[in-house]
Amino acid sequence: SPSLFNGIKYAIVLSMTAEATINRSYSLPKEQIPPTVVEEIGDEDRAELTQKIKSQLKQQNAVLVAHYYTEPDLQVLADETGGYVSDSLDMARFGYESDADTLVVCGVKFMGETAKILNPEKRILMPDLNANCSLDLGCPEDAFSRFCDDHPDHVVVVYANTSAAVKARADWMVTSGSAVDVIKHLVAEGKKIIWAPDKYLGDYVQKETGAEMLIWQGACIVHEEFKGKELEALREHHPDAKVLVHPESPGSVIAQADLVSSTTGIIQAVAEMDAKEFIVATDTGIFHKMREAAPDKILIEAPTAGKSATCISCAHCPWMAMNSLRKLSRVLDTGDNEIFVEADIAQRAKSSIQRLLDFTANKPAGKLAGDA
Ligand code: 13P
Ligand code: SF4
Repeated sequence: SPSLFNGIKYAIVLSMTAEATINRSYSLPKEQIPPTVVEEIGDEDRAELTQKIKSQLKQQNAVLVAHYYTEPDLQVLADETGGYVSDSLDMARFGYESDADTLVVCGVKFMGETAKILNPEKRILMPDLNANCSLDLGCPEDAFSRFCDDHPDHVVVVYANTSAAVKARADWMVTSGSAVDVIKHLVAEGKKIIWAPDKYLGDYVQKETGAEMLIWQGACIVHEEFKGKELEALREHHPDAKVLVHPESPGSVIAQADLVSSTTGIIQAVAEMDAKEFIVATDTGIFHKMREAAPDKILIEAPTAGKSATCISCAHCPWMAMNSLRKLSRVLDTGDNEIFVEADIAQRAKSSIQRLLDFTANKPAGKLAGDA
């Protein structure tokens, strides 16, 4: 929206290289970042609500599609009711293949929109429509479109964590689990690339592929807080621990990783890697599935604060935390919070999403090409 756009600081930096590189920086105003508040619930209420939601889902032929960062209560319920818990690419795939009439997406706004775009005939509900993402908020469609218009000879690749309108402006949508493979494919075709919105993932992909990329300067407020120096110190205390990092983290953290991967790849690694201890640089919501996959392994949170800093999200996404059992039951009662995407935008966004689904068909979810 115009007010959001005005609230974001943009700086344009022209480098002295032969081809001018435009870096777009923004800082999301603090007031746009809500505190992370996890709704408390007692055992009795939990049991009662869970029972109620189970029958609501059945009556409405509805399924839950939840992200790994949501509260364990929601993940357990999704698993117990024929729903699904996964990363953003796999959530989209599951919804697409499901024959439910209603998908209740427990995650953030872009995940709900992607579900609607792929399933226009299904009803898509979300527990809280305020559940957004700093990457989406930091890449307004109007500014991004102008950026693309300035570089008509570039292929436009956007991360899944963007609005439907930004996806509509793109040629390709990618996720963390598919970004390196897609960019390698485009490099082989001799393409120059516009990448948005995550600067850290963009830098990582650029290094892995050698692609010529113009990178939008957005960031995930959760992963951006992981600290390279403090991670070094923690590793000294745990010399045998393997370091698992989501590529939305800063380069100083990625540089210390034994594995850089999507959420699915990180969970698989804990189960499969021959190590007892793991330092994990991603949202702490992921620990629920990690403990399920490898109950006897020791999981350590990567540091988000140190002598010089205090954390804001402290490794748990404020928007993911907005999803709760109470809100879920309420939307199933009222039918509120249905997701709609304007037809013209949906049609254009679908082709960038479909490109990725076709490209990744038959490829396992999770690991990035170039993983250590
Ligand atoms: P994944 O696609 O790896 O699940 O990442 C989504 C996300 O929002 C990470 O912060
Ligand atoms: Fe967005 Fe970061 Fe939250 Fe993922 S963890 S939804 S990238 S703000």
